[in-house]
Amino acid sequence: MHDLGKAELDAVAEVLANPILTTGEWVERFERRFADYLKVRNAVGVTSCTGGLHLALLALGIGPGDEVITTPMTFIATATAIMEAGAKPVFIDVEPETGNLDTRKIEAALTERTRAIMPVHLYGQMCDMRAVRKIADSYGLKVIEDAAHCVEGTRDGVRTGELGDAACYSFYATKNLTCGEGGALVTNDDEMAAQVRLLRLHGMNKNANDRHREGYKHWDMTAMGWKYNMDNIQAALLLPQMDRLDENWRKRRELAEYYEKQLWDIPGLSRPKTLPQVEHAWHLFPVWIGDRKRDHVISELQRAGVGVMVNYRAIHLLTYFKETYGFKAGDFPVAESIGDASLSLPFYPSMPLEHVDRVIEVLRDSLH
Ligand SMILES: Cc1ncc(COP(=O)(O)O)c(C=O)c1O
Repeated sequence: MHDLGKAELDAVAEVLANPILTTGEWVERFERRFADYLKVRNAVGVTSCTGGLHLALLALGIGPGDEVITTPMTFIATATAIMEAGAKPVFIDVEPETGNLDTRKIEAALTERTRAIMPVHLYGQMCDMRAVRKIADSYGLKVIEDAAHCVEGTRDGVRTGELGDAACYSFYATKNLTCGEGGALVTNDDEMAAQVRLLRLHGMNKNANDRHREGYKHWDMTAMGWKYNMDNIQAALLLPQMDRLDENWRKRRELAEYYEKQLWDIPGLSRPKTLPQVEHAWHLFPVWIGDRKRDHVISELQRAGVGVMVNYRAIHLLTYFKETYGFKAGDFPVAESIGDASLSLPFYPSMPLEHVDRVIEVLRDSLH
């Protein structure tokens, strides 16, 4: 449930009073603000996290014939971005406590075609980025973080975007920071940022804002690019939310604590563990319900008017991945058992505690 309101309406009205609706001043302001928050050198606004991941791979020269190691416990976009770049996603299993990519399994999956690792910071809890970076450095691999769930979090004092060659974020409708559809790529590598800026707009070396500033000058197409540029309206929606990012994070943290206090003794229900070295970004609040009872609980919650989601069923078992790569049940047993048990409860900063109580009541009744 988003909390967009007057501040965002005013910001959009300001953009509408200006001639440049597409990529321009507001995008630059948002990029600076987002980069400063994450303490990285560059942020590039794009139209989705998927687009950002695709461009990161292209900018790093990863394409046909290459393999990228990632997790099957994620949204499909992590893997489809790899496929859009022409490369092959190579899944490894996840940690049973967190659902995050199990870094101990990376080395066994390496081949001479492996070019990169794409970890996902699932639900807002960061992967072990120190371990990922160490392995990547010893084998000359790139690291692209799918940070769609984790803007605010840290692990071992490391932020997202700090150790990866690039990290990509989603501003999709359900995200904590949202403009309906949108995303950003961050990187400390200035050359990579310049390349991504070129690739996000057809490979053109001038854009509409340049024409507005300098008058028309002939432009050139210097690379095969795509159409992933964030526009000023998206940036205007995002900018005021940066002011309440930490406040909303604190509210979600308190909500998570409240949920956890109510949940711990419900039989048959468990939760991903938050590791002590992690500052969780609290994007989603999943519970794990085993013994094939998850789908029954989903029906009961829906019957009681409680909205639920599943993040995620293990993606290697979705038809397209099975047909394309020949995956089958049993290939990644930990991801599969999480995927069969996972259920995300309603979770947003302004969620009333009585609503949490109601969700708990239905959960208790349905697991009786
Ligand atoms: C883990 C993960 N990766 C990638 C994406 C794709 O984000 P977008 O919709 O901005 O492309 C999502 C979106 O839900 C996600 O949850």
